Amino acid sequence: MYSVPKLKSFSEAALDKAVEKLLATLKTESKAVKNEEDWKAFRDRWMARKNGVLTQINDLWLKASPKDSKRDVGQRVNEIKAKVTEVVEGRQIKGISRAAVDSLEFRDSVRAEVTQRLDITLPGIRRPLGAEHPVIKTMHEIVSVFRNLGYSVQEGPVIETDYYNFEALNFPPNHPARDTQDTLFIARQESKPQRERLLLRTHTSPVQIRTMEKMKPPIRIVIPGVVHRNDPPDASHSPMFHQIEGLAVDTNITFCDLKGTLDHAMKALFGSSVKTSFRPSFFPFTEPSAEMLVSCFICGGSGKRNSEPCRPCKQTGWIEILGCGMVDPNVYAFVDYDPRKVSGFAFGMGADRIAILKYGVDDIQLFFNGDVRFLEQFG
Ligand code: PHE
Repeated sequence: MYSVPKLKSFSEAALDKAVEKLLATLKTESKAVKNEEDWKAFRDRWMARKNGVLTQINDLWLKASPKDSKRDVGQRVNEIKAKVTEVVEGRQIKGISRAAVDSLEFRDSVRAEVTQRLDITLPGIRRPLGAEHPVIKTMHEIVSVFRNLGYSVQEGPVIETDYYNFEALNFPPNHPARDTQDTLFIARQESKPQRERLLLRTHTSPVQIRTMEKMKPPIRIVIPGVVHRNDPPDASHSPMFHQIEGLAVDTNITFCDLKGTLDHAMKALFGSSVKTSFRPSFFPFTEPSAEMLVSCFICGGSGKRNSEPCRPCKQTGWIEILGCGMVDPNVYAFVDYDPRKVSGFAFGMGADRIAILKYGVDDIQLFFNGDVRFLEQFG
């Protein structure tokens, strides 16, 4: 085994020879390192403060050198130190162990190694931009149409009380109109008074009440949100879907305002050539109530497409798009508005259905089962 010799001569030739022998030994010993343990012994042999080879050359070569060769010897010793450090650390990177990673000196050498290997001219990893979900995108579009008319946005809880979902909207307890809502009730609510019992809201209309409770007229709001109904999923139904509600309450609001506002909104959404049509309907919280239809923007209202029956409008040339009406005076009583002084209209539409029509999607389930190949088409 190599040991650092005492130097008899400090001539250049003698130093060359000694250095050469030392570096050759370094090389062979470095090659013999096979694992962590070997490496530690290797490191200690060469670099240990106490009696490591580097310490020894310091003592036996540098300190022992005569004055006039000190500079030369010092330079050579420094070069050897750099070389030994490089070889020892370079060797180590291969046998990484958890414990070693944790040791400080190891981390420093890894950093040096990584810096050497880091090529900043390599292109980065491109992370694909996410796409807005088609339903959310549709909701944003609808909201922005109403924002431009001066409406602001309100939201409310998805888990709602019987009071806000029904009672304050003029659905009396046990009234058959409740049956149309296919409500999903939260279990174990029987011990509470009926109005406090929890359910999943079946429409965004409860937020009409919540807003009127905290704000005085004039009110112009839209309410986007998630709603639930006990409908088995199929191509056109989902137990979870999205609505956008609208409410305008002020002095002298009439059915003409309702018609004009919605007609404008439909033209903004589906194109300026669509027509709107209203037919009578019933909701407990509006009187009179209506369903609004838009002329089919797929077949242009003819009911036929390339002489085939038009599916989206079922050949009628009209598509039912929302429910609406003038706010029922009974509702004002629940929120402390004076029905003799104010009037207003409300409307509610299904955002998923509108997205289906806008994008020509044939199955609502595609919106919710998370297949990226479908969703990324809307990016
Ligand atoms: N909330 C009603 C529904 O979901 C829709 C509607 C909203 C009707 C506002 C009239 C006014 O069926």
